[in-house]
Amino acid sequence: MTYRSLERANAYFYDPERRLAVVKRHGGVSYLSSGVNHLKAPEVLLDLAGREFKERRLIENYSAPSGALGIGAAISFELHERLGRSAFGAIGPANICLTVGATGALAGAFRYLAEVTGARTALVLGLNYSFFSTICDSLGIRYRILRSEERGRLLPSVAEVRHRISTERPAIVVLSQPTNPSGELFTAHELQQVVEMAEEFGCWLVFDEVPSLAAPDEGDLPAPFPAGAVTFVSPRLIWINSYSKSRSLAGLRAGYMVAAPTVVDFVRKYNERLLWSPVNAGSSALIADMVLRAVLRALGKCEAGQEARTISRTVKRAGHYLQAFAPYSDDFSRLDGIWRFLDGALDWPDACASYGRDLARVGEICRANWQMFSSDLAPHITEAIHLKSGFNHCVKLDAAMSEWEFVVSAYDQAGIDFYTETVFADHDDADTHDFWIRISCAVEPDMFSCGVRNLAAVLDARSARH
Ligand SMILES: Cc1ncc(COP(=O)(O)O)c(C=O)c1O
Repeated sequence: MTYRSLERANAYFYDPERRLAVVKRHGGVSYLSSGVNHLKAPEVLLDLAGREFKERRLIENYSAPSGALGIGAAISFELHERLGRSAFGAIGPANICLTVGATGALAGAFRYLAEVTGARTALVLGLNYSFFSTICDSLGIRYRILRSEERGRLLPSVAEVRHRISTERPAIVVLSQPTNPSGELFTAHELQQVVEMAEEFGCWLVFDEVPSLAAPDEGDLPAPFPAGAVTFVSPRLIWINSYSKSRSLAGLRAGYMVAAPTVVDFVRKYNERLLWSPVNAGSSALIADMVLRAVLRALGKCEAGQEARTISRTVKRAGHYLQAFAPYSDDFSRLDGIWRFLDGALDWPDACASYGRDLARVGEICRANWQMFSSDLAPHITEAIHLKSGFNHCVKLDAAMSEWEFVVSAYDQAGIDFYTETVFADHDDADTHDFWIRISCAVEPDMFSCGVRNLAAVLDARSARH
């Protein structure tokens, strides 16, 4: 399955001698395909995390089954702001569990589904992040991918999803929005139909928003609810997210799951038993991120002249959540909760402006990188999926090589580590000449352009020879 393909690729890329040779030849490895956001996190978040390390005792970051209280409170707040007031009673801290990256959430969710609900089959809509294939292997869950038969898309249409779900009746449906590696999105209406279909056929829905950049200029992604419902109704929905891509904070390994309390309880215990409860260092940055997301959303909707009022009202609402749900920062209810530190550390209007600027820069770099890739390699691109959201694109190139030959020669001759179709599919056959390649644009422009130049040179030379 796919994780084996990832291991095969990584074994090649991380072989020390080969890597050294590539570094000597090309001055370093160019990340054109990594899938993680390599750009700088908003300055305001990094500053806060730095201050937290210096000025606080970090006791609230101590490993706990649900993760740091304050982050759970901030996630509830942000979800309520995103979904509207009717979600207020439906999602609370009991529905939220912090995990070691979204990877930890997927591991916990699949374990719950296998051990408690007896799930044995999963259907992935489109291609996907490969890690859970290894969890499925270890839990005895057989998973298959479903990709569209239509040209130019990998995400199946609603009709294609209905056909497959109704014939196969998988226990679990897995959907990432935007999809990894192709950046595709269902519209709100299509997503509603898929959610209703999963309910109709009794499937669990593992819904993963990790590949989103959560860019303020993009608006919120559609939420996975049936038509008419704006609340968190489905007991079989497991909603997963993390800060790895949206906020360039992959190294914090902070992910979370939103689900029914029974699922969340299981995952908390599972975390605790395995001793990999999240540590959540830098929790002030994650809390501030949630508050600032909400503020920017509110600013986008407010009338001219109301900006200052909107900022202070939104921050005040956030403060209520933090003070109610995370009033102390230690188990003994003595040390002050994290809100006072955060509120004292930030000038909120300045923080919003700087955060908005930094996120806009990330969006601009991703767009410019893609522009460069698609124009410089235009003669070699045979198919590209139109990106709807996120920063991972999917292309096919006229490489005239098998998938594995391409991976090897791109690394050795161009200094690029590419992740290709088998890493995201449900098979490990890298002998085919027709395969998708992930192009990941959240990389500093210098490194990206160096990789594009090298790749173009390899492909040009090859086509000149043939
Ligand atoms: C769809 C999807 N889910 C989850 C993850 C894992 O995220 P994290 O880095 O938070 O573990 C990734 C990372 O590539 C992903 O693409």
